[in-house]
Amino acid sequence: MASGIQEITYYEHELNIRRVIEEQASLQNVDAALNICDLSSVERKYNLWVKYLPRITPYYAVKCNDDPMIVKVLAELGAGFDCASKNEVKLVLGLDVAPERIIFANPCRPVSHLEYAQQHRVANGTVDNEFEIYKLHKHYPQSNLIVRFKSEAKEAQCPLGDKFGCDADADATALMLLAKALDLKVTGTSFHVGSGCSELEAYDRAIKKAKNIFKFGELLGYDMNFLDIGGGFPGSDDGKFQKIAEIVNTSVQRHFPDDRVQIIAEPGRFFVAAAYTLVCKIHAKREVRNEAGKLDTIMYYLNDGVYGSFNCILYDHQVVTPEHYLDESAAFPEFKSLIWGPSCDALDKISEDLRLPNLNRGDLIGFPNMGAYTVPIASPFNGFEVPRTLYFRAM
Ligand SMILES: Cc1ncc(COP(=O)(O)O)c(C=O)c1O
Repeated sequence: MASGIQEITYYEHELNIRRVIEEQASLQNVDAALNICDLSSVERKYNLWVKYLPRITPYYAVKCNDDPMIVKVLAELGAGFDCASKNEVKLVLGLDVAPERIIFANPCRPVSHLEYAQQHRVANGTVDNEFEIYKLHKHYPQSNLIVRFKSEAKEAQCPLGDKFGCDADADATALMLLAKALDLKVTGTSFHVGSGCSELEAYDRAIKKAKNIFKFGELLGYDMNFLDIGGGFPGSDDGKFQKIAEIVNTSVQRHFPDDRVQIIAEPGRFFVAAAYTLVCKIHAKREVRNEAGKLDTIMYYLNDGVYGSFNCILYDHQVVTPEHYLDESAAFPEFKSLIWGPSCDALDKISEDLRLPNLNRGDLIGFPNMGAYTVPIASPFNGFEVPRTLYFRAM
């Protein structure tokens, strides 16, 4: 098998996590946590995208989850890719994706990464400052410059505007003038409203600004033909996605009615969040009592924590939802509970103030929606293994 390509188990109808766990008897004997990845969920999300945003080609943001199995499924479905580094570009090209289906969407790249892009003819790349323009002039003058401007949602899980994006008026025009003076080619513009965007009108505001940038580019004689509306789409709330799609469709119809303009987006969490369920095992447990000796909280220690997959709590501001796998038909009394990760660090806290039945050492706890910004960031801190992944797909 090619590097990173794993076996897939096929299922009929729906993937039943409880059944997978029961069938994976080996789980009971293994001390590493397990990711259950449903590749059909990625496919369903792709079909949802095509249905609701037919004019906009999704370029999957590889940084969100760079598992080659995920990238392969999306490549086969016809998605493009947003890559942040040479290694991400390499991964995507290694799956026989044409360079035109890649955007190097990191406005600040090391020279060796740019040289790699040039060698492999990955021409589209974002830029938001004059130093990068001089760098491109020296190291990749034939590339297509996509000017990234800042236009943030009022509310987002992870805002990005402090780090990237030029001012959409004065700076964007100055950058295009500089590009013109250096004989570089500007072909379009891009923005990112913030990951996990909660202010849906932000897309309309940004698309309107993009139109002005297009107009200025055209005044300079550029063939402006590429609009990139970034990421920010929800991972598990498909109703919210449909609302965003409505806003985006109306806005592009108003500001970019010309079909000659290629419109792409860079969705990350949209495709992968819901595809993963992380199954952890309780390897230790402690009861905390108050001064009168009465039980206050039951604390559980799991085999994955904030230095592993649950880094998403720290970096991605995720709220994770545990589910137990005790007999569904029985009613269990619930207790105030707290869940810790395995390391010796007290920062390694997964969830608190929960109500859970009295679980035992060896019991499993599952966490749905764990596919985004988890896998590529997890580290084996304190010597605890990062989870392995099993892949499933509908027949
Ligand atoms: C440039 C860029 N594009 C796309 C994404 C993906 O965003 P999301 O997962 O919100 O779709 C990110 C996330 O950080 C990003 O930085």
